[in-house]
Amino acid sequence: MANVIIVGAQWGDEGKGKVVDIYTEYANDVVRYQGGNNAGHTLVVGDEKTVLHLIPSGILHEGKRCIIGNGVVLDPEVFIREITNLKKKGYLKDDSQLVIDGNVHVIMPYHREIDKAREARSGARKIGTTGRGIGPTYEDKIGRRGIRLNDLVKPQVFARKLKEILPEKNFYLEKFLGQNPLSEEAILEEYSGYAQVLEKYLGRASLILNESIEAGHNILFEGAQGSLLDIDHGTYPYVTSSSTIAGGACTGAGVGPRFIDEVIGISKAYVTRVGEGPFPTELNDEMGEKLRQIGQEFGATTGRPRRTGWFDAVALREAVRTNGLTGLAITKLDVLNELDTIKICTAYSYHGDMVETFPQDPDILAECKPVYEEMEGWNSDLSGVRSYDELPEKARLYLKKLEEVTGCPIALVSVGPRRDQTMQVKNPFGSN
Ligand code: IMP
Repeated sequence: MANVIIVGAQWGDEGKGKVVDIYTEYANDVVRYQGGNNAGHTLVVGDEKTVLHLIPSGILHEGKRCIIGNGVVLDPEVFIREITNLKKKGYLKDDSQLVIDGNVHVIMPYHREIDKAREARSGARKIGTTGRGIGPTYEDKIGRRGIRLNDLVKPQVFARKLKEILPEKNFYLEKFLGQNPLSEEAILEEYSGYAQVLEKYLGRASLILNESIEAGHNILFEGAQGSLLDIDHGTYPYVTSSSTIAGGACTGAGVGPRFIDEVIGISKAYVTRVGEGPFPTELNDEMGEKLRQIGQEFGATTGRPRRTGWFDAVALREAVRTNGLTGLAITKLDVLNELDTIKICTAYSYHGDMVETFPQDPDILAECKPVYEEMEGWNSDLSGVRSYDELPEKARLYLKKLEEVTGCPIALVSVGPRRDQTMQVKNPFGSN
């Protein structure tokens, strides 16, 4: 038995969806524990592409139970659309395959409006959010004025809560953000309709998962976004509003830390970031554009072009420490196929001083210059390689260097979007 957490080790978009999809084979339950539809996982099975924002990607495997833990924030409209699309493609034949915790907080129309209007008014100081209402929903959760799914499915409770909350939201929307107020009747009608569809998926993540652990099953915890976007440990304020590091899995699903066996951090062989905030190894040149084009670095959720840069070991070491990573999954190694030389940032220089530890202060980080080690590229196509030993020597040397500078062993390497374009070096479920 093994319970494994998967986290993004960078700023999100590391290719977690694919790795989760592969590891799902060994798991009985797959759990999302934070974030919402700001995430976007693109999965390729055969030639069919499926993009999921909320539902764990394990849903593409028959017989695997997918759970949305209490730490998630859920937009019912998006969720229902995902269910409908999955069913259309022949997935989710059995509704008991999917469970949503009743304590999940509901993203309301005012959360989306506030998110977008605030960003628009912030000008140069904007965060670059996905505009999905994630931050405002978590604010209400912590502020104890959120609406949970358990409230939504009780018509009187939902109506009472909405009546209490909406005047304050409308006041803020109108008077401060200059937006139109929202209609209580329209929200009531729309969301009551959603409640009827959602009711059958309601359950208790903590109970189900602890029973599963008791029964000796394997659980896969699927993180969203990345460690450097964590609300506490990320590049605040340019972060998302949830605990994206491994610890978030315990609070976001109601499972004790002693039941976690392995934590795998997903990292690209280079770095990308969407939204604002410091990014020391960013390449604003031809090489950056090359990585963007070859890696198809455009957001799965918003379509925004991603910022690109060289692998940053200083930032990665931060993720190794805050998550307690036991292994790394390196994705998109094939994107570097055509490069003559590849750079790895091993330290920063801050006003002439060498910095080896990721700075907490974003203003300091913004002024850090990368110190690079340069390696020879392998200049050959890796997309057909299926085993570690088949990799060209220079590619193996690059991977070895990544292990050395991050202090973390590699568990998996991915050389293309398809399931079969993957090499498992060490299976965290222990069944290689
Ligand atoms: P929010 O999560 O929409 O509030 O956005 C906050 C920051 O997190 C922004 O920089 C977003 O671009 C970033 N972000 C949120 N979700 C993702 C993701 O799934 N991948 C990459 N970046 C994300």
